[in-house]
Amino acid sequence: MSTNTTSTYSDFHLQFIAGEWQTGKDDSTNTNTNPYNGDTLVEIQQATKDQLNEAYDAATQAQEAWAKQTPAERSAVLYKVVNILDQRQEEIVDWLIKESGSTRIKAMVEFGATRAITLEAATFPNRVHGEIRPSNTPGKENFIYREPIGVVAVISPWNFPLHLTQRSIAPALALGNAVVLKPASDTPVTGGLLLAKVFEEAGLPKGLLNVVVGSGSEIGDAIVEHKAPSLVSFTGSTSVGKHIGELANGGEYIKQVALELGGNSPFVVLKDADIEQAVKAAAFGKFLHQGQICIAINRVIVEDEIYDDFVERFLAHVKTLNVGDPNKQDTAVGPIINEKQVKSLKEKIAKAQEEGAKMILSGEIQGQVVPPHIFTEVTREMDLSRNEVFGPLVGIIRAKDEDDALSIANDSMYGLSSAVFTADMQKGLRFARGIRAGMTHINDISVNDESNTPFGGEKNSGIGRFNGEWVLEEFTRTHWISMQNEPREYPF
Ligand code: TAP
Repeated sequence: MSTNTTSTYSDFHLQFIAGEWQTGKDDSTNTNTNPYNGDTLVEIQQATKDQLNEAYDAATQAQEAWAKQTPAERSAVLYKVVNILDQRQEEIVDWLIKESGSTRIKAMVEFGATRAITLEAATFPNRVHGEIRPSNTPGKENFIYREPIGVVAVISPWNFPLHLTQRSIAPALALGNAVVLKPASDTPVTGGLLLAKVFEEAGLPKGLLNVVVGSGSEIGDAIVEHKAPSLVSFTGSTSVGKHIGELANGGEYIKQVALELGGNSPFVVLKDADIEQAVKAAAFGKFLHQGQICIAINRVIVEDEIYDDFVERFLAHVKTLNVGDPNKQDTAVGPIINEKQVKSLKEKIAKAQEEGAKMILSGEIQGQVVPPHIFTEVTREMDLSRNEVFGPLVGIIRAKDEDDALSIANDSMYGLSSAVFTADMQKGLRFARGIRAGMTHINDISVNDESNTPFGGEKNSGIGRFNGEWVLEEFTRTHWISMQNEPREYPF
């Protein structure tokens, strides 16, 4: 529940380094704008590499004492964060709308997911545990300890900035680590500075969470190559993710990487599906946040027998969606994050037509608001099918039968999320198990994230899993310690 007992946070022009709010010392400025109306929200002097080093030093120092705090003490900070999120819900939702162009609906979804992962992370200090394993060596005992990993570097994207940042930093901190975070340049507030304010208010000791605002192309490599972090948790594009993977394993210091990258989710509608329900799901799973979600529906694949019926009903439904001001309660499709992304969408629209797809719905692009575009007679070879769209454009592919639908669904270099609609649950399960992806949802959209289930992908969609026990492993290190309780006999 939100209350108005606290004053709203301010001073977002400052960096949060070593527990202090300080001015960035680089010559360059990040001008943070509202993607819907172009208003300037805040100007942030960017951080230098020296400030990055300062952040890593502070994190390294603070981490040791934090790891020694009791589980209850660490949990308490996380529970406090949940309370503050609740108190400040309106303020946070407002920032998500004005900074990331979230519709009110999407901002509420994101707020809920952020709250859920924080609550889940609050249980981690008491859930993390080691093991005792038998030994084949007489007199030996094997202990498997699970320890904090140390300092974690987090680099996050702009699309679900609050959640995708919190999804890394809350578990990392709960498990006794310290964090140096670089939010995306389009969302420095919701992707970092706002969360720093919340953790500070919750009493997180100084130095454990550092937010360094700077351009990925300027300080990104330095963040990854620095000696301090033992793990780099990156969420973003496959191209940058590959680069980070190379740096993390090919530089002076080898480190672990968790990569949550791009997707190309298939949404398959089999001929026995409830078409009306599939239509509603396709519209929400495609157009939520203007399609700028890594697990958004990217390809709609429909069995031949119901293709025309599905297309007709989908078109009618999508035409009813409200497009425009994200702040309005009933807006379904708001603005695209920046002009560069709008340009890439215009190119995709042109290319789809060039390649022979039939555009059955379009609309005028106004500013950064791109209305839904629907293409039919799309084939698996076309750009719309092969690549991640990350916008409100959708291609509908015709599948000859169930086997063909599965073959099309798997014909991608990505493997993040996926969905299948059918009235036959056994068929749905069989189909789902045939899909090479980290996640598949039967009779639902591909956009699902629950704090206690494994989130992540395979192939070019990345390495590692978030949430629940899976992230608990990701953000700790395993240490085998054996104890020889009686003298061992050696061969020489
Ligand atoms: P990117 O351009 O990859 O940016 C992501 C983050 O990486 C930003 O903080 C960016 O900083 C930073 N970055 C850029 N170049 C870097 C470098 N050389 N070294 C280190 N960091 C660097 O992606 P995006 O455009 O923000 O997001 C869209 C893509 O992310 C899509 O492909 C989408 O599928 C993917 N994504 C995936 C997921 C999951 S969960 N798999 C979630 C969201 C998004 P700057 O902003 O300063 O450039």
